[in-house]
Amino acid sequence: MQHKKFDYIVLGSGVAGLRAAIELAAHGDVAVITKCFLGESSSEYAQGGVAVVLNDDDDIFLHIDDTLKAGDGLCDRDAVLTLVEEGPRYIRELIAWGAQFDMHGGNLSFTREAAHSVNRIIHAQGDATGHEIVRSLKEHAGKFLNIYRVEYMYAIDFLVEDGRVTGVLTVDEKTGEQFAYYSKAVVVATGGAGRLFNRTTNPEVATGDGAAMAFRAYAELEDMEFYQFHPTALHFPGAPAFLLSESMRGEGAYLKNQNNERFCTKYHEDGELAPRDVVSRSIFFEMQELNTDHMYLDLTHLDKDFVKNRFPKIHSTCLEYGIDITLDLIPVSPAAHYYMGGIKTDTEGRTALKGLYACGEAACTGVHGANRLASNSLLEGVVYGGRSAKAAVRECNGFDILETEPEDRPLIKEEDYTKALRDIQNTMWLYVSVSRNEEGLKKAIDFLENYLVHFEGKRPADRKTAELRNLAEVGLMMAKAALARPGSRGGHYRDDLPERMSENTHIYFSDAEYNPRIR
Ligand code: SIN
Repeated sequence: MQHKKFDYIVLGSGVAGLRAAIELAAHGDVAVITKCFLGESSSEYAQGGVAVVLNDDDDIFLHIDDTLKAGDGLCDRDAVLTLVEEGPRYIRELIAWGAQFDMHGGNLSFTREAAHSVNRIIHAQGDATGHEIVRSLKEHAGKFLNIYRVEYMYAIDFLVEDGRVTGVLTVDEKTGEQFAYYSKAVVVATGGAGRLFNRTTNPEVATGDGAAMAFRAYAELEDMEFYQFHPTALHFPGAPAFLLSESMRGEGAYLKNQNNERFCTKYHEDGELAPRDVVSRSIFFEMQELNTDHMYLDLTHLDKDFVKNRFPKIHSTCLEYGIDITLDLIPVSPAAHYYMGGIKTDTEGRTALKGLYACGEAACTGVHGANRLASNSLLEGVVYGGRSAKAAVRECNGFDILETEPEDRPLIKEEDYTKALRDIQNTMWLYVSVSRNEEGLKKAIDFLENYLVHFEGKRPADRKTAELRNLAEVGLMMAKAALARPGSRGGHYRDDLPERMSENTHIYFSDAEYNPRIR
């Protein structure tokens, strides 16, 4: 096995990972290890924008309040305060590095999304905000000769010695060769786990790798039951669950049922602009009532040129399926979108393990609580990507790089990957998605526990097998936490216990035994 040494390692290359790498590069050599090509991440596909207080009509306290309300009382106040207060500085810095956001009359153009009390969402190329931020970060990172991109290299496990993470065991996907990467500190920014579900807006790389690796290394995970389903993904035969940005409703789009009636106000006074978890459930209940598998998004009453210019990517993608969003109703239904839970961190991105920092969707900073406010995630990526890197430098720069030998393990390969993935995704969608109950959660837990038996004491032989293990582990924590929360809150809805749980408790995993602890 080859050994490689860098001052710092960043795992993942979305917005949080790239931002962390840029910060770290001022203090030493940085390896950005990514299992695909640099930048491939959920960040890349984020459409709507970045929520940030840069508009004269806005106020830090309004953004904080909106975030706390959307999080249904389970956000960490300090984490929210840090995000909102530091957000404007980080976004100005991005602009200075070349990110181009849409302008109106010489000023940034702000739009509204659900559960925001003012227009505070900035966007780029209409509906390609994530792409533009990733592009500008990649370009800026490219100026640092000490940032090394390590592509198509997937991570298997953290290397740990005396409670400190000393590196990462990885495999080169093309050659199958194993590498041990060692560093003073590792920043995990591997993103979410949308691939747990058969309907998701996430790219194929979103397989919960960082959370599962951290769990196996005995770090602490938090809020694993809280998963966000985006209300409006394209629902069309043969088409992926392509995201139809919340900003479409922010610009005035309606949600309609099969009878051409708007229905959202039946479920919440804010109608289409209620918090995202509420709108997803409204669609879900309306589909159940009308015994159908989709609703419609309607922009036909809006100015056609405005719609085309404001949502160019969505317009062209829907046209590929014969849907003209300026003329036709768009069939939509909810899809897995964002993990609020993840590796528990404080406001410096510190985890329970020395030398391990986490940021972006892989982390649970407490910013999102039980339900993320729309467009807070790209902001979280830059702010906490920067903060976790700063903390890693502050706390680990003096560390020696230790070359911990990985344990030897027999290899295991999943022969029927397609079936195994389909079984996990179908189980999760049926029992652990928008609406859950005890009977279904127990079925999911049984299924995932049985599946994971194959992996005991073994090491996955290839990337797909490694991803299946990670998905099954994260799915099991999601189902166990959902069962351990006897009531509904934010994105976690129990149809057998629909009352809102009033206790402000959180659920944690930290023993690699899947025992949820409530505190
Ligand atoms: C969207 O454009 O609706 C997605 C943005 C987000 O998830 O915050």
